[in-house]
Amino acid sequence: TRPLRVGMIGIGTVGAGTFRVLARNQADIAGRAGRAIEMVIVSARNLVRAAGVVGEGVALTDDPLRVATHPDVDVVVEVAGGTGPARDWVLAAISHGKHVVTANKALLAVHGTEIFAAARRHGVAVAYEGAVAVSIPIIKALREGLAANRIEWVAGIINGTTNFILSKMRDEGLDFGAALAQAQALGYAEADPSFDIEGIDAAHKLTLLASNAFGMPLRFADAQVTGLTQLQGLDVACAEQLGFRIKLLGVARRREEGVELRVQPALVPAGHLMASVNGSMNAVMVKGDAAGLTMYYGAGAGSEQTASAVIADLVDVARLHGTHAAQRVPHLGFQAQAMNALPV
Ligand code: HSE
Repeated sequence: TRPLRVGMIGIGTVGAGTFRVLARNQADIAGRAGRAIEMVIVSARNLVRAAGVVGEGVALTDDPLRVATHPDVDVVVEVAGGTGPARDWVLAAISHGKHVVTANKALLAVHGTEIFAAARRHGVAVAYEGAVAVSIPIIKALREGLAANRIEWVAGIINGTTNFILSKMRDEGLDFGAALAQAQALGYAEADPSFDIEGIDAAHKLTLLASNAFGMPLRFADAQVTGLTQLQGLDVACAEQLGFRIKLLGVARRREEGVELRVQPALVPAGHLMASVNGSMNAVMVKGDAAGLTMYYGAGAGSEQTASAVIADLVDVARLHGTHAAQRVPHLGFQAQAMNALPV
């Protein structure tokens, strides 16, 4: 079988991790994929720095559209981030018949409905396991493992940066700014960290979880979002005294009128499983009518942690044949008319 040929847009924290893991575990990955995964072309803003990461035999360009439409590319990995230009690149790739793997939660939370519809029309896959709670295969869990269930709610700690900050404030008494600086140095935070702190990143991920859990269109704007901007060290200490931990939770809950999407800091009893999710770790709980309660735990941010999910999606795509591809995007619209977020 011929290799799966990959073009990558962006080569920052996640892109570099993808190259490292692909090289290190090449044989195992090819074995699981049933064929080799071969990087063909990469686009980067800084070509000199990118050359040091990609090594020989991989073409470099500063034009993402060249990657998206390249005749030798079967699948485009979009790890550049952002919503405007990334939407154009991904739609160009899809209309050229290429599968897309992305870790870009902002892009899908805002433009996912349009992107998934285009993928269905062109019979290609859009895979995004790395977009939500990076190390946790939660999209697969919702789409495959829990496919029999009527999902009642999904709740989780789905932003690594804010959970890291909360843990550092509690365990080491760091102030908010110092904890954030550490999260940034470790590559956890978004390029614009206000996305993390204001709960926007968690709301992007919640939007993706909800579309998979409830079949609703992706409408990030419907989420009620409160971040950690008001948080002080005293809040963390007081919560602790009272037997609670402050956690930034994302909750998507089925209500009679629709689905409620909410991101907010919450007081979690210290004995609750969610309270022991610390550092940059994430956890997601799902309540299904048949499976009951399930819980998933793993790294919520990080270079190779996200790469792990991106490569898993590449392995998935490598195994796809023909018409199965379109079935890889969420089945939206089954219940769409009933699904509006509740005003709070
Ligand atoms: N900034 C994100 C986080 C990266 O901290 O969770 C992973 O999506």
